[in-house]
Amino acid sequence: MNLIADKTIVLGVTGSIAAYKAAAIASRLRQLGANVHVAMTDAAAEFVGPLTFAALTHNPVLRNVLALGADAEIEHVAFAGRANLILIAPATATTIARLAHGFADDVIAAICLDTRAPILIAPAMESGMWENAATQENIATLKRRGIRIIDPEAGHLASGAIGQGRMAEPEKIVAAAQRLFASSGPLAGKRVVITAGGTREALDPVRVISNHSSGKMGYALAQEALDRGADVSLITSIDDLPVPYDARVTRIVSTRDLLDAVMREISGADVLVMSAAPADFRPETTADLKIKKEDSDELTIRLVRNPDILSAVAELRAASPATTPRIVVGFAAETNDLLLNARDKLERKNLDMIVANPVPQTFGSENVQAVLLLKNNEELDLAPMSKENLATVIFDRIETLPS
Ligand code: CTP
Repeated sequence: MNLIADKTIVLGVTGSIAAYKAAAIASRLRQLGANVHVAMTDAAAEFVGPLTFAALTHNPVLRNVLALGADAEIEHVAFAGRANLILIAPATATTIARLAHGFADDVIAAICLDTRAPILIAPAMESGMWENAATQENIATLKRRGIRIIDPEAGHLASGAIGQGRMAEPEKIVAAAQRLFASSGPLAGKRVVITAGGTREALDPVRVISNHSSGKMGYALAQEALDRGADVSLITSIDDLPVPYDARVTRIVSTRDLLDAVMREISGADVLVMSAAPADFRPETTADLKIKKEDSDELTIRLVRNPDILSAVAELRAASPATTPRIVVGFAAETNDLLLNARDKLERKNLDMIVANPVPQTFGSENVQAVLLLKNNEELDLAPMSKENLATVIFDRIETLPS
């Protein structure tokens, strides 16, 4: 879901070396369909030419607080009223101080003072300036007034020093803007728990039993729920996928870890989507030391059953329906008898919906084939699509389920 399309965004660029990264932000926002108007301070224009932004946004750049627009309207007043979001990236210590103290002496400060639109700022400065009590008090003041801050990150600064002060990366800033628009989305105020990836069961300190689940489906679902405004808890065994902005992450390894995390996170949640592939069995014992082959030709590993998480959730739901998710969605990856097996799991685990995927076509691949089976016997046979698109279809369906 793209909530940025057709929104009017004023991108304020102030005088920091990170101004060059604002070009990537402007470009990405426009690709997402936003109408972007860049406002620049004089100092910012020393770092990056206004022409760069005019070319990227197809809109003239606002520079002068006293400027009149085409029909003699005062530009900063017009944009303060028209904007759906004011995003200042990079925001220097001086701009932050101006905002905190209500100045209107440059075009960005004037727009911020006048607007009713939400304001999001991405500070960039040397770590000394960032840590200075003056800046921190100004930041606290802005937060108190509802201005949202994307904290600067630690790393190499323009001076060559290493410390906190680097502006967050453009992708993160755009994700924060998307998240801000999502606050009026259809799942705003809802809590969604999503599990992702295959679990790993240790044989010894270096070996595990696992499966090929990549976790990509779970991450796409988490992003979709975030874009719709939900508060998302992502329980994952995957370490190498970027965490969707604003998801609360719990890292797990084994099926028993997953069970504990799910039971903790579903309390008070509205929706649980179990896209993880938990190992059904684990080694009966985990060796403390690496298992040596010595001179044996065979190794027998005895496996014992792991708990079934969705069955445990079904029991809990029956016992305390008020505090457990009203909607539970499972997945069924099957090599044979796809619909028969999926329908059986839907009933056995008391699910509201199950996403049936044929394997091996699904594991780790970019496109998936799926059939959605619902409690009311409805079946939706979907054409192959990306995991992102499938996540959209799944949440469209979740929103129609009786709650
Ligand atoms: N699942 C679970 N706990 C397990 C195993 C699976 O909650 N120990 C969940 C999965 O996350 C998925 C659904 O149950 O949403 C179906 O998983 P699958 O592995 O296909 O089914 P199983 O119940 O393990 O059945 P089988 O192994 O016999 O196919």
